Amino acid sequence: MTMSNTKKLFIKTWGCQMNVYDSRKMADVLAPMGYKQVDGPEGADMIILNTCHIREKATDKVFSELGRLKKFKDEGQAEGRKTIMAVAGCVAQAEGDFIAERAPYVDMVFGPQTYGTLPEMVAQATGAYGKDRVINTEFDEEDKFDKLPEETLATGPTAFLAVQEGCDKFCTFCVVPYTRGAEYSRRVEAIIDEVKQLRDQGVREISFLGQNVNAFHGINAKGETQSLADLMLLAAEIDGIERIRYTTSHPRDMEQDLIDAHAHTKIMPYLHLPVQSGSNKILKAMNRKHERDMYFDIIERFRKVRPDIAISGDFIVGFPGETDQDFEDTMDLVRQVNYSSAYSFKYSQRPGTPAATMGGLIREDIKDERLQRLQALLADQMRAFNEQTIGMDLSVLFDGTPREGQLHGRTPYNQAVHVTGNSRLNGQIETVRITGTNGKSLTGDLILYEAAA
Ligand code: 5AD
Ligand code: SF4
Repeated sequence: MTMSNTKKLFIKTWGCQMNVYDSRKMADVLAPMGYKQVDGPEGADMIILNTCHIREKATDKVFSELGRLKKFKDEGQAEGRKTIMAVAGCVAQAEGDFIAERAPYVDMVFGPQTYGTLPEMVAQATGAYGKDRVINTEFDEEDKFDKLPEETLATGPTAFLAVQEGCDKFCTFCVVPYTRGAEYSRRVEAIIDEVKQLRDQGVREISFLGQNVNAFHGINAKGETQSLADLMLLAAEIDGIERIRYTTSHPRDMEQDLIDAHAHTKIMPYLHLPVQSGSNKILKAMNRKHERDMYFDIIERFRKVRPDIAISGDFIVGFPGETDQDFEDTMDLVRQVNYSSAYSFKYSQRPGTPAATMGGLIREDIKDERLQRLQALLADQMRAFNEQTIGMDLSVLFDGTPREGQLHGRTPYNQAVHVTGNSRLNGQIETVRITGTNGKSLTGDLILYEAAA
């Protein structure tokens, strides 16, 4: 392909790792059509906003970003060039018609299940079929992943790999079951092939990704159903793959084989297990289908297998009907579990979800105060966790060089580490003696073992 055929593609991504992954896949699908990803919207031939609908003001954010980016389309038009403007992701899925109506300059609106048909959609948007606007929020019956190219170009030593998508849990606050559809697992062979391809490109760490990743139940070549633990142990047999992670899990799908798999040295001692609340009453209203004791029990069973495992979670404060006591129950759960990191949010009413019509709304200032208290506690725990690793020699996978002579990496516990060292070590796993922390990330010294004389 000649340079003149190259078209500039700008993708802006909001939200979760699944969206980051999808953006990469969209770029892969569009590459054969001559689109090359660029870092900014200037002079772009296509602009894709990959949106997130999980919390408040999602749609407002999309409109304000569209308003800001429209000038690049206008500039293109003045130069006789069409800039395709597209809205993808979960806001497109949930609010597609509304976006199309309110932003007539948007050429394409399409949901997460449709990315495999991007070439056709782009052909249509460029006028190939007479009409030139695409609104596609279908839930495809066929497997989205089957239509996406399997080979992903690795961009470093760590890679995310989607193995499962969608959610059947219907937590009453959450839009995901509506925007991402029912739970679906990819076939085991396809995943393992992709892991090998990534390994061939220098990937050392694989993170298996899914909205409910531990609900994974993929079929192998023999027609047998395999669990996430089975899949991880298969991946662990692949030479060159040194580290395996997975995210995000649900307590309801936690099986003992996944817990036991953590005895394997390639499976990292880190667990992201959202609980959302520590109050049984609120857990019930959230339709989480588990109580706090079940959560404690799971954590305990993990610690039996990996006493040092780092625990992470998600929390929502100010769910409708949450009393001071309910919130104290959450604080108590946090104290008992002792997290290494966590994400916490104020409850946000999402149209179309069951919780949106619940009474007992919590005042904004109370939500703010609760969030502040919870985040202060979680920050203390994160600092304590990080401090406790000072003096330890940990294996660190270097995944970036912020500056010449500086390396960035991750410990098995998923802590970020900054080290002084030769950039050539990027992509390698080395031992680092941890020397300090600012509470959030670590500093350390490289321990390079000299070859025995
Ligand atoms: N309000 C606030 N937080 C939410 N989350 C999901 N839906 C909502 C909502 N309506 C949070 C949950 C989930 C994370 C991805 O986002 O904690 O685990
Ligand atoms: Fe956002 Fe959830 Fe959609 Fe991810 S799945 S993009 S977090 S709404």
